Amino acid sequence: MTKKIIVANWKMNHGFDEANDWIESVNKNFATLDLSSIEVVLCPPSYLIDYIDGELMENGFKKLENMMTSGQKSTTDISDTDLSKIVLNERYVQLGAQDCHYEQKGSFTGDISAWMLKKIGCEYVILGHSERRSNHYETNKIVAKKILAALNQQITPIICVGEDQEVRDQDKYMEFIYKQIMHSIPQETKFDKLIIAYEPIWSIGTGNVAGTKQIAEIAALIKKIFDRKLSGIANQYYILYGGSVDKSTSREILSIPGIDGLLVGKASLDGEEFSEIVKTAIEF
Ligand code: PGA
Repeated sequence: MTKKIIVANWKMNHGFDEANDWIESVNKNFATLDLSSIEVVLCPPSYLIDYIDGELMENGFKKLENMMTSGQKSTTDISDTDLSKIVLNERYVQLGAQDCHYEQKGSFTGDISAWMLKKIGCEYVILGHSERRSNHYETNKIVAKKILAALNQQITPIICVGEDQEVRDQDKYMEFIYKQIMHSIPQETKFDKLIIAYEPIWSIGTGNVAGTKQIAEIAALIKKIFDRKLSGIANQYYILYGGSVDKSTSREILSIPGIDGLLVGKASLDGEEFSEIVKTAIEF
């Protein structure tokens, strides 16, 4: 069975207080859940990543402290490897970024590189989000370079594709998405894990979730592309849907054949609502 992947994309939202509230509510809600069948990824604004990384480790340290005080373990009979395992196993959420530059270092004011993100605990990075493509003029070619940079740092890319209303109305969306995938994904490489998020622009932030048939059609297209054109490029690939997902729609979307998870924007800002979405995903 493939793991479901639930990604929270905070975009340019939240300060330290809201981040603390979110972590508290997620920790409380996740403590009793068996999360082994899913992967939960949080992509906050870059300035919060390192801070959140530290806060997420706290759970593991608390567990360790309890083991020590209850006499189950002492500092002498626990190896460094066990120590880090205990700390990491108690961590419910992996971290991701919302973008990265394709160069490692240099004169790129305002940018952050994949190499830097790896240093502050990022395991994932969202690339080619429609807001980056339109607000920052990112082409498929630039997205491809960023994907390579992420790959070089062993960071899993979450590659976003999706058509706008005009392309959908003209009935050219299949061709559009085919081209976006083929031109954004560097084909000369081998990925251990790769995530494609179908995010129709007309659905993002509008409250207008794509229909079940529409999502299934694109999931089937992506699968076909991977089977026929990109076979062998990734050991594992996952297909997510994003666009106005909330706790009331997550179940139906997760039951669509070919959909392995969700990329959640607005509804991920609230820890309680996001936890509800994660709880739903566990049932699949
Ligand atoms: P939304 O955003 O859930 O607020 O529509 C999704 C996204 O842009 O990733």
